[in-house]
Amino acid sequence: MVLDGLDAASIERATAMLAAGELVAFPTETVYGLGARADDDRAVAAIFALKGRPAAHPLIVHIADRADADRFAATFPPVAHKLVEAFWPGPLTVIVERRPGIAEAAAGGQATIGLRCPAHAVAHALLLAAREAGVAGVAGPSANRFGRISPTTAAHVAAEFGDTLTVLDGGSARVGIESAIVDCSSGRPVMLRPGTLVPAQIEAAAGTALEAPGQHAPRAPGTLAAHYAPKARLRLMPTEMLRAALQVLGPEPLRLAVYSRSVPSGVATGLAHRRMPARPEQAAHELFSVLRELDATGVHLIWVEEPPPGPEWAGVRDRLQRAAAS
Ligand code: TXA
Ligand code: MG
Repeated sequence: MVLDGLDAASIERATAMLAAGELVAFPTETVYGLGARADDDRAVAAIFALKGRPAAHPLIVHIADRADADRFAATFPPVAHKLVEAFWPGPLTVIVERRPGIAEAAAGGQATIGLRCPAHAVAHALLLAAREAGVAGVAGPSANRFGRISPTTAAHVAAEFGDTLTVLDGGSARVGIESAIVDCSSGRPVMLRPGTLVPAQIEAAAGTALEAPGQHAPRAPGTLAAHYAPKARLRLMPTEMLRAALQVLGPEPLRLAVYSRSVPSGVATGLAHRRMPARPEQAAHELFSVLRELDATGVHLIWVEEPPPGPEWAGVRDRLQRAAAS
């Protein structure tokens, strides 16, 4: 059931459900999350079951503000502090050492915990009300089935899970791809997943260089090579290759969709085309929505033009590469 997130009664209802250990999907500025109270291992188990996600893959815990982090974090190193000062509320998740005995299931049994304070009015209202009701944090992966495209609207969530799941509608997610994840648990910042915050911004706030994930980096399924899969096969192609491939297509109707910055001209009929925006923020905002739309046309193939080089495209490039690897 979809509830209007701007309606106070909806927040009240969703809060009561969370407090009772039930699941509620909620909007954030990045993508929609599938929420359960983070301190209730049984409630959290229901998230893993509904998504079909392996239990060892840790979830992010959403909190109303920095103060709530101390409920979950054993230590909050200076670098994490600087990052959340700069970017919370916002599309940044920090991984810190977990307080033993709390949010065990949400953490997938790891000694660390991922924390994020989202910048979305509905999420914030929910997290504040939940805190009042004794729920200090809401564990929430993206509200999609494991390995599939993340949802950026309430309708996407309903399409994934059906009408029995309660979804707070907060409109179309502004950012559109998931938060950047920085592991701070060693005291030094390690980028685990790119988002829309570019490394230079993160490094400026941290006051130190980002390190690449090492051998001992924590598991992060969002960093699995294959993820974000549409039903169609997605192929990521350099501009020239895409142009050449489109040129050799015959006039017969195709079960092919193309997502590219340039418009293919004079190609076969039946070609579904969506134009990739020139600005990376705009491309991130619409990416998952466009993939879902193209997929829904029933095409067998989606050809995507590689995004331009440059750090501001890293988040979009990362999601497309994983979608292509599926
Ligand atoms: O923007 C987002 O981050 C969205 C919204 C809903 O907040 N959430 C999201 O959750 O993308 P999910 O579960 O789809 O991806 C969370 C990522 C996973 O790759 C997970 O492995 C990683 O965060 N993660 C969470 N806790 C972790 C931990 N303790 N150590 C390492 N990675 C962790
Ligand atoms: Mg996800």
